[in-house]
This record gives sequence, C-alpha cells and structure tokens, in this order.
Amino acid sequence: MCGIFGIVTTNEQRLGPILTEAGYRLSYRGYDSVGIATIHADGNIDLRKDAGKVSQVAEKYNFNEMVGTRGILQLRWATFGEPSLVNSQPHLDSEGLMVGAHNGNVVNNVELRKQFMAEGMTVRSTNDGESCVHAVERYIRKGLSILEAIRHAYDDLEGDYAFVIGLAKDDKIYAFKKGSGLVVGIGNDFACISSDLPSILPLTRNIIFMNDGEIVELSAKSARLFRVIDGKPIDRPIEEVEDTMEAAQKGGFAHFMLKEINEQPKVAEELIHLWENSTDVEQVLAAMQQARSIYFIGCGTSYNACVAGTVYFNRLAGRSVFPVAAPQFTAQYNNAIGPEDVGIFVSQSGETKDVLNAVEIARKRGMRIFSLVNVVGSTLTKLSENWLPLTCGYEISVPATKTFTNQLVGFLYLAYRMGNIPTSPLLQIPQWMNEAIQSSQDQIPHILPHIKDWNDLYCLGYGLTYPIALEGALKLKEITYAHCEGMLSTEFKHGPLAAVTKGYPVIFTTTTADIPVIISGINEVTCRGGCAIAIGPKDERLDTNANYVISISQPTPEIASILSVIPLQLLSYHMSLSRGYDPDFPRNLSKTLTVD
Ligand code: AGP
Repeated sequence: MCGIFGIVTTNEQRLGPILTEAGYRLSYRGYDSVGIATIHADGNIDLRKDAGKVSQVAEKYNFNEMVGTRGILQLRWATFGEPSLVNSQPHLDSEGLMVGAHNGNVVNNVELRKQFMAEGMTVRSTNDGESCVHAVERYIRKGLSILEAIRHAYDDLEGDYAFVIGLAKDDKIYAFKKGSGLVVGIGNDFACISSDLPSILPLTRNIIFMNDGEIVELSAKSARLFRVIDGKPIDRPIEEVEDTMEAAQKGGFAHFMLKEINEQPKVAEELIHLWENSTDVEQVLAAMQQARSIYFIGCGTSYNACVAGTVYFNRLAGRSVFPVAAPQFTAQYNNAIGPEDVGIFVSQSGETKDVLNAVEIARKRGMRIFSLVNVVGSTLTKLSENWLPLTCGYEISVPATKTFTNQLVGFLYLAYRMGNIPTSPLLQIPQWMNEAIQSSQDQIPHILPHIKDWNDLYCLGYGLTYPIALEGALKLKEITYAHCEGMLSTEFKHGPLAAVTKGYPVIFTTTTADIPVIISGINEVTCRGGCAIAIGPKDERLDTNANYVISISQPTPEIASILSVIPLQLLSYHMSLSRGYDPDFPRNLSKTLTVD
C-alpha cells in the first residue's frame, strides 16, 4: 500500500521529528523501507532513506536532526522487487533539483524507465516512485511550469497512485491524486498532505479532501487545488474532522475485517494489473508448464485457496494439481517429489512455520519452489526460486479476507494463462466484487437471526464452491467460536445429516451448473425441519427449495465461486458482532503462526 506525507512550514525548523512521527502513524499501512527528504530555505535537499522499519532507519540516519521549510516522507510497502536503499523513496530527479514520492502502483513503470533512459535522464532504481519524478522532469525540461508539467505527467503515469513532489528552487510542494488516498491538512503556520488521515489528525483537524484528477499546490498557510484535465482552480471548502485516530486507521469502518472485505475489489484490480505486466509470472508459468507434477501447499485459509486453485487448473488448463495442507506434505508426497516437480507454497504472511517446514522437505528433494505471498521480504519469499505478490497491503485483521480472494484471483489468473485463455474477463472481477458486497449487506440482516444463536452448523459446497464452503466454515469458526464444519454437500447425507433438527442451519454454496445436486442436499435438510440457506445464482429452483437465498452474480462459474465467499465473510462478521466478539482479534488466535 505504501504511505506518503508532506509538509510546508512558514520558517526553517527541525522537521525530522514531525516527519518521523508521521511515519509511525502511517506504518500500519505496512513498511519495508522508509525515507525522508527535507528542503532547506536555501534549496538544499537533505535525503535520507533505507530498507527497514521506521524506528531502525530513523535511528541509523538520525532523522531527528533534519531541518527545512519543506519535507516529504515515504513508507514503502514493496510490491515488486526487494526492499533496498536504492529502491527506497523519496527519489531525486536527474540533476537532484526535485524530490518526490508516491504510494500505489504505476503499472507502466517498466516502459517509462526505458523512455526516461532513452531521453538521457539518470534512472537510479527500478521503483515506480522514481518514474513519477522523471515523468514531471520530462516536462520541466521542456520549459513547462510545475503545474503544467504535473498535468502532463499525470496522463503518462498509468495505474492507481498518489504523488507528492518539491522543487529545490521553490517554497511549495505539489501533489496529485489518481486512484490512491490523498488528504490535505491546514494548520496555523503549516500545511500538510498525506495518504490518509491518521498522520494528519494529531497536527490539525482542518482537512481538505481531494478527488482523483486533482492537483494541490501547498504553501505554508494555504492549499490551492486545480483540475488536471484543464488546469482550472477548484474551490474546495476546509472541513473540520471529528474522527478518532483508531477510526481513521480503519478508514471509517467499525473493524479492520470490514475494511479489508471492502478493499477486496481494489486489491484484486491491483493484482491483475501487476501480474499482467510481470516477468515473474512468466517464470512461474514456464516452470509449471514444464513440470512433471504440480503441488499447491498451504495452511488454513491459504490451504482452502490451494484447493480452489486445483479446480481452476483442471477446468481451465486441463492440468491436475495436488492440493495439500502443509503439515501433511511429507506424509503424502515427500518420497514422490523431485527436481522435475513444482511446488507453489501459499502464505499471506510468508512466515507460517508449517509451510516453511514443508519448504525444507521440498528443498531437500530438489523440488522447484515458488510462492504466493503478501508480505514482501518474508522468509518464504527468500526460500523461493521466485514468488508472486498478493498486493493486498497490510492485512491487519486475524481472519484472512482480502488475501484469500487475491489468492483465488491469482490462481485463476495463472489457470487462464496455463490454458491460453484471454484474461480480459478477469478485469471485471472488481466490479462484480463490489456488487456482491452490496447485495450481501442488503440480504444478510434477513438471514442472521436464523443462524446467530446456533453453536453448531454446516457449510456445504460442491465442485467450484467446495473450497469456498471450507473457507466459509473457517471464518464462522474463528470469529463466532461456533462449531461449523465445511464439507462436500454430497457427503452430508453419509452421516452428518444426523445432526439436523428443527431450525438447524445448513449453508449451501453453489454455482448455476451445480444447482440440481445442491437441490437434493437442500431438501434432505428441509424435509427434516432444518434451515437451508443457499448462496448462489438468482434462480427459481433455489428460491423455491431453500429457506433463504443470498443471490450472487454468475459472470463465469469460476468468478462466481470467488464472489460467493463474500456473503460468508460478512455473515461471519455480523454473527461475531451479534455475540459481542471482536472479529479482528478472536480469542486464542494470532495473525501469523510461527510455531509448530
Ligand atoms: C485464516 O483466517 C486464519 N487467520 C488462518 O487459518 C491462516 O489462513 C493460516 O494461519 C495461514 O496463514 P498464512 O496464509 O499467513 O500462511
């Protein structure tokens, strides 16, 4: 996700402590490197940055002593490429006369870097934040004003980001918003700008909210906004914000889990954008195409994603893949694997000991090791021949949500590519997810009363939705503490059906093709007085057979199955709240299990 913060003051002062504190307040957005640039009254730029956490880098480079009239801080949540000094932000232009930083992703970074080098600019890193600086430099070199240069750079830089820049020979800083957060704070003798509110609220509650396609020119006591499209000024009122700090970190949502469920469309869009342009994806695909056998290995939610991935690979690429829970990898496969086999290890944290143990077994057998990971620089990324980022930013809530759906989107993307299928339908996933979130929020209040008081229930699926049922059951278990078993709907009659009594809740997930099978299961429950809740297409057969239905769009069967986890995430969230629990931090659990 990354985070940026900029400030302009009326006179030269020690800006280091203010900028460092802003870094701490933005650090929940995740950080792999941090940097500060201050610009002195005489135009001298003091730039200090490195890989590492705020506390480490601030001490190592003595941030506190930094002075200036203007300052910029950036926290990097690395998406592609290891955290390193050279990739840290902020970045300078070729001559060292401008300094800037961004948060978000510039998806045409690779092409732009080639252009800038061909135009004679000094390109020092592979980081897309540097491309933002050179994109402005390109037009400054042509004699345009800073505002005109920014307007042109905005169009050259593709993707979702926000960017802040300062010129040595100037007394302002400038920023523009294109798909990532950016807010302005106005104080008595300063003005500041940031990715989001938490780093501003302790300084001032006088806020100007920006929209995409807008530029802000920040001077010590004021902010002027302009439209990118025609440069015209915008009259935007200052608002006094009442939010608490914690509410601001949750982006106004009651819990991180709800915030992260709502971030799923955005992070899915980021993953697809980035994987479309990734040489790392090509390497992983080539390895799988040459592999004798392919294994998807993970734990918990990540294991459920592995099961889903094997269904996609069978359906779309005609490739059989072995899904396996990491601790079981040795028992089931360690004598069967070798250098001609490929393992895709899936872990949002990249630190799960059960997964790392399995990696060790695989390495000893010479297996080729790749991974899908959210946390850059984590142990699993270092043990992998190559790895693909889940691009979710920090997932703070213990129950995994956005990392799960991005694991599914990632596997679906790879299955499309393995099957030589055009990936364009995947670009619609974010809008379908938004629709599923909205329709679920509307429908869940009618269903919650029928499950919230039960401490025992089932979540069933079939084919594409079998792994979704496993994941739904896990969500219900981990944040409502009810016992919920996920299983194949057809297996339910082979014993577990005995549990059904009057009102007993059984949740069924299905896509259109599997409705006939699911209908049987539903009737086996309802004819015994049980309460059957169906998650699936708008279909008269579900409406007439199930007690309750949560309808989900069916763009393709695979995408529909991904969408069907969203009502399960929200149902478990609201059921947890109805019991007075904190869904973000359930009892007994932790976000990363680095123990056996
Ligand atoms: C999921 O909601 C849980 N937090 C848990 O099952 C988690 O998926 C599991 O511990 C694996 O974590 P990882 O993806 O970081 O390896």
